[in-house]
Amino acid sequence: MTFRRACAVTDLPGPGALRAEIDGVPVAVVRDTDGRLHAIGGLCSHAEVWLTEGELEGSLLECPHHGSQFDLNTGVPQNLPAVVPVPVYPLTVEGQDVLVDVTGSTDVTGSTEAPEGSDTPAIPQAPARTSGTPGAPVKEG
Ligand code: FES
Repeated sequence: MTFRRACAVTDLPGPGALRAEIDGVPVAVVRDTDGRLHAIGGLCSHAEVWLTEGELEGSLLECPHHGSQFDLNTGVPQNLPAVVPVPVYPLTVEGQDVLVDVTGSTDVTGSTEAPEGSDTPAIPQAPARTSGTPGAPVKEG
């Protein structure tokens, strides 16, 4: 896993989405209405417009172009016209930094396990304010 800084926790609207690009990969960093942080593919799978411009409803982020809503926990679109999930990336918080691993996208079941036979190291032991799972609650102190 290779976590890279996406933004500061304080950069994130609450709730809302922020556009980031990590190693050339477009990422939407999102604080949902419950205060949980997520990192998903930044571009809609239907026509590649930024999802960060869309409306947030609970843990669903709506594409601003045609209205497909993507589940922030699975990346799966909940309605047409999009039918292909967007990636969901592991996210962690260190201090005030939001870190995302764009090499570790999960499948649509939300699994963060490395594929069998992969040499990907296990998720490191997390400090108290850190989570390696999508949708982790974040308490700001
Ligand atoms: S561009 Fe997102 S649903 Fe069409």
